[in-house]
Amino acid sequence: MGTTLTGIGYYLPPKVLTNFDLEKMVDTSDDWITTRTGIKERRIADNENVTQMAYMASLEALESANIQPEDIDLIILATLTPELKFPSTACLLQAKLGAKRAYAFDISAACSGFIYGLELADAYIKSGKAKKILLVGAERLSEIVNWQDRSTCVLFGDGAGAVIISEGDGEVLSSKMLSDGELWEILYAPKCGYINMKGKELFKLAVRSMEEVCRYVLESAGISIEDVSIMIPHQANIRIMEALAEKLGMPKEKVYSNIHKYGNTSAASIPIAMYEAYKEGKLRRGDIVMLTAMGGGLTWGAMLLRF
Ligand code: ACO
Repeated sequence: MGTTLTGIGYYLPPKVLTNFDLEKMVDTSDDWITTRTGIKERRIADNENVTQMAYMASLEALESANIQPEDIDLIILATLTPELKFPSTACLLQAKLGAKRAYAFDISAACSGFIYGLELADAYIKSGKAKKILLVGAERLSEIVNWQDRSTCVLFGDGAGAVIISEGDGEVLSSKMLSDGELWEILYAPKCGYINMKGKELFKLAVRSMEEVCRYVLESAGISIEDVSIMIPHQANIRIMEALAEKLGMPKEKVYSNIHKYGNTSAASIPIAMYEAYKEGKLRRGDIVMLTAMGGGLTWGAMLLRF
């Protein structure tokens, strides 16, 4: 018996913003965005606030795990776009769900938030401190994007993904999370302002740092790259994912990507990708999946999971 994802859900706002729409807003082109990033369109929240998106994803995750909100012991929510300064978005979600027994908190680790949360949840399960955990990645990045800055506004989107974690047939085989706060200026948003990014530096750092932690988790679990059924990286840029796969010797077909539809949804990107991979039959029970992310902070990590 090990840490298992027993339920999964997602929410994506219906409003679509295409590259062609962006052509009318800033000096860019569908061709530039597609070839540099792989993104064709992204979802933008309209009336949905971040708690509502988290709530919708959580309801589906609860239903798929066949449990009720009262069964949850702990809610962890990863976001860089919290609804309020405080209380945490996790607390707002707890109230909306009526998860009366749960205690709740947010974690701030940008695009690595979901895998940081998964490692934390694994520790809670292993220690016996919690039996049923709701872990959510939810973002309303459209509110911290400068829609006049073509170098960032084409990259990001809104959405939420949620999982239920409890004991079962799955297992966290290995994980490694790292941070380097000295590099924070490469990607950050001030207290009341927009995302700032040094794209070129970030690109190289992302590939190098994710390769390092992926190699670490493979080695520490004694698993070869051939034994990994599927890699689900944070969806930041298709070229980052392809470069990482090449360095690791991972065939492209085993790297899951849905970035063309949603852009970079930060903490929500991995659970949304896991959800779609699962529904498409590309992620099956018993599979060994490698998750990896890198984001502002700087934060990065990798995890090997028997799903
Ligand atoms: N449309 C058209 N031209 C553009 C746009 C745009 N949207 N944005 C920038 N340009 C221009 C630049 O001004 C520059 O013009 P110049 O040569 O006249 O100065 C030219 O395109 C090239 O710009 P670069 O920044 O060199 O382009 P690059 O190939 O590095 O691609 C990108 C930029 C896509 C941002 C890339 O660096 C990247 O993806 N970096 C990682 C960023 C990222 O993923 N951030 C998300 C969070 S972190 C994470 O999740 C890993």
